[in-house]
Amino acid sequence: MTSSTHTAEKTRGTAVFTCILAALAGLMFGLDIGVISGATHFIQEEFQISDRVIEWIVSSMMLGAALGALGAGWMSAALGRKRSLILGAILFVLGSVLCGFAWSPNSLIVGRFILGLAIGIASFTAPLYLAEVAPEQIRGSMISLYQLMITVGILAAFLSDTAFSYSGAWRWMLGIIAIPGVLFLIGVLVLPDSPRWLIMKGRKQQALEVLRKLRGNEEAIIQQEIRDIEEQLRIPQRGWHLFKENSNFRRSVGLGVLLQIVQQFTGMNVVMYYAPRIFEGMGYDTQAQMWFTAAVGLTNVLATFIAIFLVDRWGRKPILYTGFVVMAIGMGVVGTMMNMGTLSHGQQIFTVAMLLIFIVGFAMSAGPLIWTLCSEVQPLKGRDFGIGCSTFTNWIANMIVGATFLTLLNVIGNAATFWLYGALNAFFILLVFWLVPETKGTTLEQIERNLMSGKPLRDIGQ
Ligand code: BGC
Repeated sequence: MTSSTHTAEKTRGTAVFTCILAALAGLMFGLDIGVISGATHFIQEEFQISDRVIEWIVSSMMLGAALGALGAGWMSAALGRKRSLILGAILFVLGSVLCGFAWSPNSLIVGRFILGLAIGIASFTAPLYLAEVAPEQIRGSMISLYQLMITVGILAAFLSDTAFSYSGAWRWMLGIIAIPGVLFLIGVLVLPDSPRWLIMKGRKQQALEVLRKLRGNEEAIIQQEIRDIEEQLRIPQRGWHLFKENSNFRRSVGLGVLLQIVQQFTGMNVVMYYAPRIFEGMGYDTQAQMWFTAAVGLTNVLATFIAIFLVDRWGRKPILYTGFVVMAIGMGVVGTMMNMGTLSHGQQIFTVAMLLIFIVGFAMSAGPLIWTLCSEVQPLKGRDFGIGCSTFTNWIANMIVGATFLTLLNVIGNAATFWLYGALNAFFILLVFWLVPETKGTTLEQIERNLMSGKPLRDIGQ
């Protein structure tokens, strides 16, 4: 091996390591989403609280995340990506410890809110950081890795909840995620600052040093990258002004916001937060509920590979159509089975299978693709603002879904609740047809030109 290929491999290794570390933020995101489902039953038993209070314990995390994502835009520009991630990691550890030691429902709500702040910051900053440090050739796969890590985090939380469910130790379920939190903190402490942010702050010499570590001593490539970054930075981020002045930009922001509402109103997080409760409704005991929940998590991880494999082959729209059809059928059939009342063993298994089919539908489509589309449709000079708005919406919609599910079950009943989500998914097929552009194989510059020239949204990818 020549010394230059050796250096190239070593630095490529450094870049991959950096990205893996940042993608651990995805893992935190997933742990946060997944951990509560197994705990609610035991929390309700210990504190003797109503479904309404449980909904708040579940949803305060999303409120924190929405606010965290809102503040993260400013913070990642002012303090830098690395320091924002460090703050996110510290809050994550604090929040999990507080949840583990919670002495009342209110203290749990506060703990979950702090966890939410952490994840709001991380869910905005990590993809930004990833896009800035990953070398061009592996950028796509690094961003998919982030979504995959979310699903792995959810699965890990479901499995750990299952293990602790035998003793009903909900404090351990919530507290133990402080350990990956500490590892994440140590990881982000050794991350380099983002070269793009350093240049933004006029610290070009440091940016050069970081790039040498990440890209090796390929001086020409590094100088080119510095020029590219400087070129991009010349286009000022003037999101709010652009939003007020330019109706075309308002359309892309509106599309991003709508797409995130759609992602959440598929009902995916109903399953993520309340799976054991859903399985209880099907007539399963606590242990079976927990194991089926783990199966949900595993299905979610595996089906994400379908999206990663298909996204640049089939394109965005065919995958979204397929996903929404599958989800509509899954939710609709689960509702019908619940409507039948007491089920035979075979019927119960069939209902679980249909719920898993719904998960496949989400994980292969709306899960990863909505995030991809939301970043693709924003024009460069409004990208931070546009993505900030859609990420904020993701968490607010997530909160509404989490805060209303048990009430829906209690008020309109199990079957109608699932039918409602089935119908929403069927409606989303039409929305994809009317509004979503096919962005496969189109450069971001072309999408931007089309948007700004006033083409209908569904045609901006052509
Ligand atoms: C969504 C989360 C969801 C997760 C499930 C993500 O894309 O934004 O709300 O819990 O997928 O895998």
